[in-house]
Amino acid sequence: MKASYGLVAGAFLLAAVGSSYAQHSYIGAEKCKMCHKLQYDSWLTTKHAKATETAKASTKWKFDASCLSCHATNKNEALSGVQCEACHGPGSDYKTMSIMKDREKAIANGLIIPTQETCNSCHDGKDHHKPVKFDRELVHAHKK
Ligand code: HEC
Ligand code: HEC
Ligand code: HEC
Ligand code: HEC
Repeated sequence: MKASYGLVAGAFLLAAVGSSYAQHSYIGAEKCKMCHKLQYDSWLTTKHAKATETAKASTKWKFDASCLSCHATNKNEALSGVQCEACHGPGSDYKTMSIMKDREKAIANGLIIPTQETCNSCHDGKDHHKPVKFDRELVHAHKK
């Protein structure tokens, strides 16, 4: 009796821990490259990929940590540039093939299909942050 109560309590505990892990984490563009080389290679040639370097090299404005909210991924200098996950959401929970192949599952696990709103979070029209009109051709090459 005692043992089976322990098992049930354990299962509840696991469920509780599981739900608090809903916070997805960032894995970095290199991990997406494995399966999305077309998008990766073309993204690498865009200004987004070099956004951290650009801000640090600026002679117009003094670089500090506040720049990273737009000039890096997840405000993290180690995730340098506006990477895949800055637009598509942190990938820890959608990156596996079985989930990625199923669009609905991927979205349920944190994948974002970017819209104008996504661009607006950084291209907010204030200061030098010019607005940009949503256009998928501006971000990287596409399969079709
Ligand atoms: C293990 C391989 C794999 C990895 C790693 C992977 N993906 Fe995918 N991804 C796929 C497959 C397969 C599809 C579905 C077919 C397709 O669109 O290429 C897909 C689809 C997508 C889509 C299109 C969703 C749609 O239906 O429009 C996006 C966006 C995406 N992945 C982004 C990412 C990002 C960002 C990363 C890194 C954080 C990543 N993927 C990592 C395999 C992978
Ligand atoms: C709210 C988001 C945001 C913040 C915060 C931000 N930037 Fe930018 N930055 C942008 C966007 C968006 C662009 C691209 C604008 C365009 O469309 O040309 C840009 C472009 C730039 C450029 C290249 C274009 C130019 O005008 O020279 C430099 C350099 C730059 N930012 C430096 C910085 C520095 C340094 C900081 C911190 C002091 C900073 N930015 C903070 C969003 C931001
Ligand atoms: C996480 C912040 C962020 C998001 C989200 C974002 N951008 Fe940017 N974008 C920047 C920054 C920062 C720059 C400036 C990079 C540089 O000059 O080094 C930039 C530059 C650009 C440029 C180049 C402008 C030029 O002067 O040549 C284009 C085009 C662009 N973004 C389009 C988009 C589009 C379209 C979206 C939405 C699908 C988007 N961006 C989403 C931060 C962002
Ligand atoms: C500035 C935002 C932005 C960045 C950065 C970005 N993407 Fe995308 N991505 C988009 C947009 C916009 C679409 C098109 C969505 C649509 O068709 O409605 C897209 C579509 C995709 C698709 C769907 C298939 C296709 O070819 O259209 C995949 C896969 C993908 N991105 C992977 C990546 C990977 C991998 C990276 C990093 C190397 C990346 N993306 C970086 C905005 C971005």
